[in-house]
Amino acid sequence: MKILVTGGLGFIGSHTVVALQQKGYEVVIIDDLSNASVDVVQGIKAITGVQPTFYQIDLREKQAVFDFFEQHTDLAGVIHFAASKAVGESMAKPLLYYENNFFSLINVLSALQHYGIKKFLFSSSCTVYGQGEVMPITEEESIKSALSPYGNTKQVGEEIIVDLAKVFPLQAVLLRYFNPIGAHESGHIGESPLGVPYNLIPYITQTAVGIREYLSIYGQDYDTPDGTCVRDYIHVVDLADAHVRAMEYLIQEKNQQQVEAFNVGNGQGYSVLELLHSFERVSGLKINYKIVERRPGDVDKAWANTDKIQRVLGWKPTKTLDDMLASAWKWEQKSRNNNN
Ligand code: WQD
Repeated sequence: MKILVTGGLGFIGSHTVVALQQKGYEVVIIDDLSNASVDVVQGIKAITGVQPTFYQIDLREKQAVFDFFEQHTDLAGVIHFAASKAVGESMAKPLLYYENNFFSLINVLSALQHYGIKKFLFSSSCTVYGQGEVMPITEEESIKSALSPYGNTKQVGEEIIVDLAKVFPLQAVLLRYFNPIGAHESGHIGESPLGVPYNLIPYITQTAVGIREYLSIYGQDYDTPDGTCVRDYIHVVDLADAHVRAMEYLIQEKNQQQVEAFNVGNGQGYSVLELLHSFERVSGLKINYKIVERRPGDVDKAWANTDKIQRVLGWKPTKTLDDMLASAWKWEQKSRNNNN
């Protein structure tokens, strides 16, 4: 069976491609390389022995999207990762986020409708909840107005999918990730943001290898035990497994409704300082940091209730926080060695 993975050379996408290939699926990747390197294709092959077919396409180009689907009418399903995804960056560049994330999604969905491809997995986010009122957050938590353009693109993205499902027999799962971190234990693929990292873990590992002078911690006056923001960190390999299970759930037509949402997280929250000290323990290094102003768009706390995905998809996290941090550190060191 052939699966299209858009954004398949990205951090979560590449780990999901590996997991799909290891389950015997043929994978085709579309990526525009705006936040990923083409070298990731070889990283995937180094792990699975199978080189995925890769097309460099800008999904904002509708004709290019339809030309692709014209050649691949036999797709069993589509996993759509392709999007800009940094909360902080989206506050500074709202139009880039709305254009990229909406045009890409709409073009892919238009092609699905045109070619009658029904199984669709959407990379959504816990940011659709805004500042959740009750921790841990369940899928029944009300969708509040997003605190960032990034979160808004995921909220409206989900609504677009629901509205399409009313007029086309789309069968979709929305996976609402919490904070994906870590890397495949092989060290062949991992999180490699281009430029200065927006996300916490790559910034910490780049500080650890000396690329960054110190970590800026965005605020220590939040309503949390140590004042820094609390997040639910999930290993990217566990997250990839959730995607394979969700796609199989759709392919085997076990889904109860046309569109279903699932939280994917560890179910436990850690503060920025707790993450930092855990990384220092795992790496044996001291990380310089400074407390600075809050970052616009950040919520105080967010961690997941994952009862639903465990009950319906049989998924549960297997990796510990130390596994996540050790694998991220191993990846950073290997990447630097390869670049030297
Ligand atoms: C985490 C915490 C920052 C950088 C991410 C993804 C988003 C979504 C949700 C999937 C925050 C603090 C960060 C730094 C810091 N996942 N921080 N200094 O904003 O929770 O969003 O998870 O869809 O796509 O981006 O993650 O890693 O940016 O921040 O103090 O240099 O670390 O304030 O509290 P975030 P993050």
